[in-house]
Amino acid sequence: MVRVKAIPVRNFPNTPEFTGLNTPIGEEYELESLRVEGRIPPEVAGTFFRAIPDPAFPPYLEDGAAVLSGDGMVSAMRFAGGKVSFAIRYVQTERHRTEVAAGRALFGKYRNPFTDRPEAAGLDRTVSNTTPVWHAGKLLMTKEDGRPYRVDRRNLATLGRYDFGGRLKSATVTAHVRIDPESGELFFFGYEADGLASTKVAYCIADRHGNLTREQCFDAPYCAMMHDFTITERYALFPIYPTTCDLARLKSGGDHWVHELGRESFVGVMPRGGSVAQLRWFRGPRGVSCYHMMNAFEDADGRIHLDQCLSNVNAFPFIQRASGIRVTPEEMGSRLARWTINLNDGSDSVTETVIGPPGDLPMIPATSQGRSYGHGWMLTMNPAMQGPPVAGGPVGVMFNTLLRLDFTGKPPQALALPPAHSLSEPVHVPSSKLAHEGWLLTVVDQQTGASDFVHALWILDAGNVAAGPVARIEIPHRLRPQVHGWWVSEVELAAAL
Ligand SMILES: [Fe+2]
Repeated sequence: MVRVKAIPVRNFPNTPEFTGLNTPIGEEYELESLRVEGRIPPEVAGTFFRAIPDPAFPPYLEDGAAVLSGDGMVSAMRFAGGKVSFAIRYVQTERHRTEVAAGRALFGKYRNPFTDRPEAAGLDRTVSNTTPVWHAGKLLMTKEDGRPYRVDRRNLATLGRYDFGGRLKSATVTAHVRIDPESGELFFFGYEADGLASTKVAYCIADRHGNLTREQCFDAPYCAMMHDFTITERYALFPIYPTTCDLARLKSGGDHWVHELGRESFVGVMPRGGSVAQLRWFRGPRGVSCYHMMNAFEDADGRIHLDQCLSNVNAFPFIQRASGIRVTPEEMGSRLARWTINLNDGSDSVTETVIGPPGDLPMIPATSQGRSYGHGWMLTMNPAMQGPPVAGGPVGVMFNTLLRLDFTGKPPQALALPPAHSLSEPVHVPSSKLAHEGWLLTVVDQQTGASDFVHALWILDAGNVAAGPVARIEIPHRLRPQVHGWWVSEVELAAAL
């Protein structure tokens, strides 16, 4: 192992945000020629980029949402010539650089600059810890509270904040972009686009070469956490769930997010290449919440279907606490829900159909984006698991089962991990063989002691996940949980500037 750099030993609170799997690591390192058990499919050639939050310094005030504020690290697992290497580096955000120079935390509560130390005044607060986005040969580390930072795909060095060559006006960019599989266009948005607690949402399109070609602004019904959105072949969909922000609360040192069970949800629908003046709002149920959407598509009758990992309340325990909400797992009502929107019958509300079990971190082949699709994958908990799940991540417990869901009538497939195991969101590697569904790459954690874990990357046949891994690659170093990842093939990497 080559250790590049390490943050000095620090004393973090003895709380779930900073212990067990969530224990901060604070090291940049590289590992070469990782040990492989099994056979890596030759099609798995490229790099698996992962976003891993890892706070460099302990917080100086109590913050239930601190788990969302870990400094972004970008890691790369490279598959080339039958060998696998691993590297991880901090994203050198303005925030991270300033805190490292100071040797302590300067930024206060999650998305509340009114709680910052004076030295942080006016500085960029984002930590770029959510998704490594690859588009038009550029690697961008994103978080929804700010603009992305561009990272060098080869050595993971930070190249600086990214604003599409000075053209972007929005102060924020989502970590959940959508790329049309045919046009190669990048669709994205930014909420609280002009400041804290604002209802302004920027809607943007970049062409396949990465040029920002459209940026428009609209008002959401209220300031909501807009974590994800979707496109179809002709429409852009902006779901709004009632996890809301209030400027007065921020000024009094409160939390950015509170969930409001009595408030309506909405979906904004507009022609994706059209004007925001064409945006129509459709009403959804009160109080519901969703972080991630699997897909959306239009059917032959012109209806729009939006498939999402929905629940009756925001799933983050610290947001429930801040909202005075107490729910049992059953009351959470988590499900894969399809909201159907009819643009032509005069209705102004969605119709819901449950199409899958509870879960999150849904995924589809990139070629299915915005199209009618036959299958997808997502993570869930095994209800028959003996013993407690692995603690970690923002929800407090890690998923332990991978599902392949079929929407053509075939039964679901499940890969349920053994006790004391958890897994992170996989990436999909397409196969060149038409009849083959490709491969899934996921990092699996095994807990071997209170704060002891071993980690491995598993490669699975995406069409036969229940069969277990075709290859396991050891990662002989502690890892914190990943948020999202992105697969970039060696062909795309070679074509990049
Ligand atoms: Fe996300």
